[in-house]
Amino acid sequence: DWTSAAFAESTVQSLKEKLGNDKVVMGLSGGVDSSVAATLIHKAIGQNLYCIFVDNGLLRKNEFEEVLHSYQDLGLNVIGVDAKKEFYAALSGLTDPEAKRKAIGRTFIEIFDAEAHKIQDVKWLGQGTIYPDVIESVSVKGPSVTIKSHHNVGGLPEKMKLKIVEPLNALFKDEVREVGRQINIPTNILNRHPFPGPGLGIRILGDITAEKVQVLQDVDSIFINGLKKHNLYDSVWQAGAILLPVQSVGVMGDERTYENAVALRAVTSVDGMTADWAHLPYEFLADVSNEIINKVKGVNRVVYDISSKPPATIEWE
Ligand code: XMP
Repeated sequence: DWTSAAFAESTVQSLKEKLGNDKVVMGLSGGVDSSVAATLIHKAIGQNLYCIFVDNGLLRKNEFEEVLHSYQDLGLNVIGVDAKKEFYAALSGLTDPEAKRKAIGRTFIEIFDAEAHKIQDVKWLGQGTIYPDVIESVSVKGPSVTIKSHHNVGGLPEKMKLKIVEPLNALFKDEVREVGRQINIPTNILNRHPFPGPGLGIRILGDITAEKVQVLQDVDSIFINGLKKHNLYDSVWQAGAILLPVQSVGVMGDERTYENAVALRAVTSVDGMTADWAHLPYEFLADVSNEIINKVKGVNRVVYDISSKPPATIEWE
């Protein structure tokens, strides 16, 4: 029967045989899956694994710098690419969720492709695909949207004519985490909540601007740090904030304000396919709401999403 130790050992061995002296290029996302996949491949072929970590301008606050350092600490051969401007330009004026996903996916491929071409004789593309991705990538999202374009599954290989290596494509998330623990990946990476490839791009409803990203990053960081401070982070499966395209009236002193509303979403789940809203303590929600409204300029109202999946999805777009 399955153990993470046996899986790690046999996977590294078979990667060595399969890859030999070939070079592999891989995009890292900061998430558990790509980190574990990259570390297994790195154990098999060392510096022949070239990792690329792209700042798409849609990551959490300080995430790019922090994650890049974690990767360097793991010994991975990684380069960080600041492509914020390219992503914001590609997203300019777009409001439809699938159009935004496609623009983000396309831009990612362009940036990644340009970086990958700087490496001589790459033969393989490494991917952190896990079993549920294989299923979800063909699932139907909603009435107005046909198929969700999970850009981390499709797209790249056809364009780059690379063979694919995906050491985790038969595992579920909890198994990936066990393997990660087995190969000593730090817990701040292992226990990190899932985060969608399009990032904050699908949590800013409507069009995206650098200013909106900054507002949402500040809100999200208060929420996530609050969960960590109150020891609630590990009890929810995923959490984040959504910037609503809604302004509402508030008061500040004697003045009326007319500012943004944000939604907080936290869910419990096993695999993301179904989810319940997390029954977070009222006191915690009260503290976080006050901190957000007091500290984040431009936000005067916070609501908490109490919808379960199905029928509501985890993301709002
Ligand atoms: P939904 O919103 O469909 O999300 O309930 C289920 C899980 O998938 C993540 N998600 C995405 N991940 N690209 C991704 O890489 C996407 O376009 C995307 N859309 C949703 C979501 O964060 C949740 O973990």
